[in-house]
Amino acid sequence: MAGRMQGKVSFITGAGRGQGRAHAVLQAREGADIIAIDICEDIDSNPYPMASWDDLAETRRLVEQEGRRCVVGKADVRDRGQLAAALADGIAELGPLTNVMANAGILPLAMGDPQPMDFHDAVDVDLIGVLNTVAAAVPHLLAAGGGGSIVITGSTAALIPNTTSSTDPRVIMGPGGAGYSWSKQTLVGYTREMAQHLAPSGIRVNIVHPTNCNTHLMNAEGIYQVFRPDLEAEEVTKDDFRLASVAYHALPTPWLESEDVAELVLFLASDASKHMTGTSIPIDLGCMVKWPNGPGQ
Ligand SMILES: NC(=O)c1ccc[n+]([C@@H]2O[C@H](COP(=O)([O-])OP(=O)(O)OC[C@H]3O[C@@H](n4cnc5c(N)ncnc54)[C@H](O)[C@@H]3O)[C@@H](O)[C@H]2O)c1
Repeated sequence: MAGRMQGKVSFITGAGRGQGRAHAVLQAREGADIIAIDICEDIDSNPYPMASWDDLAETRRLVEQEGRRCVVGKADVRDRGQLAAALADGIAELGPLTNVMANAGILPLAMGDPQPMDFHDAVDVDLIGVLNTVAAAVPHLLAAGGGGSIVITGSTAALIPNTTSSTDPRVIMGPGGAGYSWSKQTLVGYTREMAQHLAPSGIRVNIVHPTNCNTHLMNAEGIYQVFRPDLEAEEVTKDDFRLASVAYHALPTPWLESEDVAELVLFLASDASKHMTGTSIPIDLGCMVKWPNGPGQ
């Protein structure tokens, strides 16, 4: 039986690990060839490391293990020229582009020493990086003439009211966290905007909003404490975080795995969702039904 991504070529940012790698592997399993890019170097203001070139090579190995081709590239989503060059290399080898996963993101909490410009650093990657990804990809989708699907990765932070101004420590997280939330919120309107403009060309644009997902981002320094402000930073453990994260959700589950998000993104990437565009879909373990006015309210 043909896979759900047979004949497609998927461009995935932040593909070196985590959710981006899960998208690459699942979509390859379903028949897609993959153009996988990652920054492969650290970002000064971000307190946890980014994926490495070895991580990206491992993604390629896993895609090839699924029997598909994978072109990897080192590119920073903040640099549209780097994205365009990596994409051109991939298309030259794999053929016309059909799918885009604008997934790369950072959550620069800088708990010990927050700086006002952390806000900008988050926005540069989490908002401008997505716009750059779409801007680099759309000319190729239009040139191919067969429509296409763009899936943007948001966050429950996009849906929680007053995330950027609340004094609740679970949702404020300093300038870096506020820049993250503001970026993700802004992406909802951007998705609706681009969905309208691209619809006449048959190109769909949708955004997904994962809750806590068991990746480097979630397990980076600071996140556990955001959820457990009652504990000292040095003593808070993943088990402490687990309790608070279960309470954050309606379903009795502490967090998602990357493969869970990949299933939703696969649906939106595939023709199974061909009548859907401009949608904003939580995959949030019931977080938003439990806390429609924000955590604890
Ligand atoms: N993990 C969570 O709890 C969670 C929850 C909601 C949303 N998200 C979103 O999911 C997406 C994927 O994150 P993840 O959870 O897999 O975390 P992750 O840190 O494991 O993966 C992020 C990837 O993006 C790459 N990246 C970061 N900045 C980049 C840049 N400037 N250019 C190119 N690549 C860059 C990193 O190297 C890394 O490989 C992000 O957009 C994130 O905001 C994560």
